[in-house]
Amino acid sequence: MKNISVNLIVESIQKVTGKGPHQLHEPLFSGKEMSYLKNTINQNFVSSAGEYVNKFEKKIKEYTKAKFAIAVVNGTQAIYISLKACGVKKNEEVLVPALTFVGTVNAVSYLGAEPHFIDSQIENFGINCLKLENYLNKITKFRRNQCINKLTGNVIKAIIPVHVFGHPCNIQDIVKIAKKFNLIVIEDAAETLGSFYKKKHLGTFGEVGCLSFNGNKIITTGGGGMVITNKKVLAKKIKHLTTTAKLKHKWEYIHDEIGYNFRMPNLNAALGLAQFEKIHTFLKAKRTLFKKYYNVFNKIKGISLYRESKNANSNYWLQTLILDKNKSTLKNKILKESHKKLIFARPVWKLISDLKPYKKSQKMNLSGAKEIYKRIINIPSSQSLILK
Ligand SMILES: Cc1ncc(COP(=O)(O)O)c(C=O)c1O
Repeated sequence: MKNISVNLIVESIQKVTGKGPHQLHEPLFSGKEMSYLKNTINQNFVSSAGEYVNKFEKKIKEYTKAKFAIAVVNGTQAIYISLKACGVKKNEEVLVPALTFVGTVNAVSYLGAEPHFIDSQIENFGINCLKLENYLNKITKFRRNQCINKLTGNVIKAIIPVHVFGHPCNIQDIVKIAKKFNLIVIEDAAETLGSFYKKKHLGTFGEVGCLSFNGNKIITTGGGGMVITNKKVLAKKIKHLTTTAKLKHKWEYIHDEIGYNFRMPNLNAALGLAQFEKIHTFLKAKRTLFKKYYNVFNKIKGISLYRESKNANSNYWLQTLILDKNKSTLKNKILKESHKKLIFARPVWKLISDLKPYKKSQKMNLSGAKEIYKRIINIPSSQSLILK
């Protein structure tokens, strides 16, 4: 075993990636992308109509085993529209981890609902269930079957578990807690296409699951997202709302409520379908990359590489280094040195509860999330590092 040092960490990353520049995550287009994109142009269907949106939805449905899938413009709006369709209203509270991408929380704010921040655990970067249940026992009461925050008097309506970096959180326990407190579960599965918990695809445990196909995800549509659900009524509502709430008619424009233009364009879906055809190759490459990093970091004292936990089958979207508690002061030095060498490693998001728009929001003690922020570094994770 070697002792940790900044140079050793950066050299060890380079041992696997080769010399930089290496971004954190880059897309890889090695399939039928160009051919499908050309088809959309040749067929003159680049926007909301065309064959690829339905085809892409069908593939995601089959793969995740969700009964319904609705393609939308991005993951943030997938979460927004899911909250809306599930009946979350202005001033109601939604429990959300402080450790997530800002889009998760913004989706709550767009509705005029209130994010209420909860803590995460270093074991899988997801919600700390024990802490959550104790907290809810303490701060809530029931009124007419609704969970009420005793401190604000507001209804706590929903919870958004986030599967961070592709790793499953303790979703079954979260669903149990949600049942006890009568909360709707909307899974932020933005980063998790190809990740399973006890062989069940993430995003299929809650009422709805929301995927993202942003340019940095395991497969991309450029920009895009998907809502998956097993509930027919919800699926119908989400499809209707995301397609301007237009009623079917051969020529008239009839919209029966205020809808949204959130449908994924055919161009993006064409890219998505070609990308999806490579999912198994990409997942294999991610595991190979994990093993390569593991073999290197395994031999260094003071740091470890995140490894999926029991019952989890992660897509290993991002590879994450975890510094020992007493080594966390090295984090910024490693980031600085790696950037100098054009290895664009990144910290995790700043806690959303510390950002200007959310400083006054309700929150529990966030010691776990703060510790994660201090101790982890994401390193180059593109499948192109393997599939050169
Ligand atoms: C955890 C998480 N939630 C939500 C989103 C939002 O997805 P999008 O960028 O497609 O809006 C992302 C990705 O960017 C994410 O990583």
